[in-house]
Amino acid sequence: MENNNKSYFYAEKQEELDRLKLQASAVQDIELGILEKHGLSTHLDVLDVGCGPGFTTSLLADRCQPTSLLGVDNNPELISKAKELANSNNQSTVFSIQDVYEINLSKKFDFAYARFLFQHLEKPVKALKSISNVLKENGRLCILDIDEDFLHLHPPLHSFIEIKEKVILQQKKRGGDRLIGKKLRNLLIEAGFEEINVTILPVTSNQIGLDAFFDLTTSFKKELLTNKDDVDQFNELKKIMKNENYFGVVSVFFVSGVKR
Ligand SMILES: C[S@@+](CC[C@H](N)C(=O)[O-])C[C@H]1O[C@@H](n2cnc3c(N)ncnc32)[C@H](O)[C@@H]1O
Repeated sequence: MENNNKSYFYAEKQEELDRLKLQASAVQDIELGILEKHGLSTHLDVLDVGCGPGFTTSLLADRCQPTSLLGVDNNPELISKAKELANSNNQSTVFSIQDVYEINLSKKFDFAYARFLFQHLEKPVKALKSISNVLKENGRLCILDIDEDFLHLHPPLHSFIEIKEKVILQQKKRGGDRLIGKKLRNLLIEAGFEEINVTILPVTSNQIGLDAFFDLTTSFKKELLTNKDDVDQFNELKKIMKNENYFGVVSVFFVSGVKR
């Protein structure tokens, strides 16, 4: 399958893999706790949509005793990495190259998780309907995603805000949406999901350290900056943000709904 992600285009870079790994592990116990409140339990047929290199799929395999677990992504290289990781962890997870808009599976699932996928999708409602088609009756989809309106640094830093704004625009041009978090509830309703549940989780630099906070929320933004002045501004920001006086906070959205 041709991989034509425009919004998510830096997947094969080692720094991005490291960032996804960090993102998967930063607050994993809290994340699993929230997923439980959104319907994840043991002995379910679980689907990880947009699983990437499989860090979270592996966590689900380890901690949730799924009856079956399938990871899907439209990037073949990431699917290979996910398979390697599952093999090295002796996990029996199955992976399949699938585009979220046209998921084609013979099986249906109790719980689907889409983690940091929807910020990259041009047609979220079409994707939601496609996921709904592979959920069992009363199955639940939970989406975890960001919203840059909920990313703040104190004391405020002009270059941080400017870069954030440039990246929102760049990702929009590529068909993505870095302000998706607050829109998810209404999108799920539009796609026909019911019993919507929303949890907002704040993550701070005090919890994970300023370096990790920068890596998670900002480092990848360099790839989206197109001109030299912006890249210089980014490099300057990276130096300034070594100063431990800064406090960062970002909130991530968990939004889930049931298929009837
Ligand atoms: C930011 S990564 C998140 C990976 C993983 N869920 C995690 O949390 O570590 C976004 C993933 O969405 C996948 N993706 C983007 N567009 C997709 C599409 N149309 N169909 C399937 N996967 C897609 C990308 O290939 C990438 O692996």
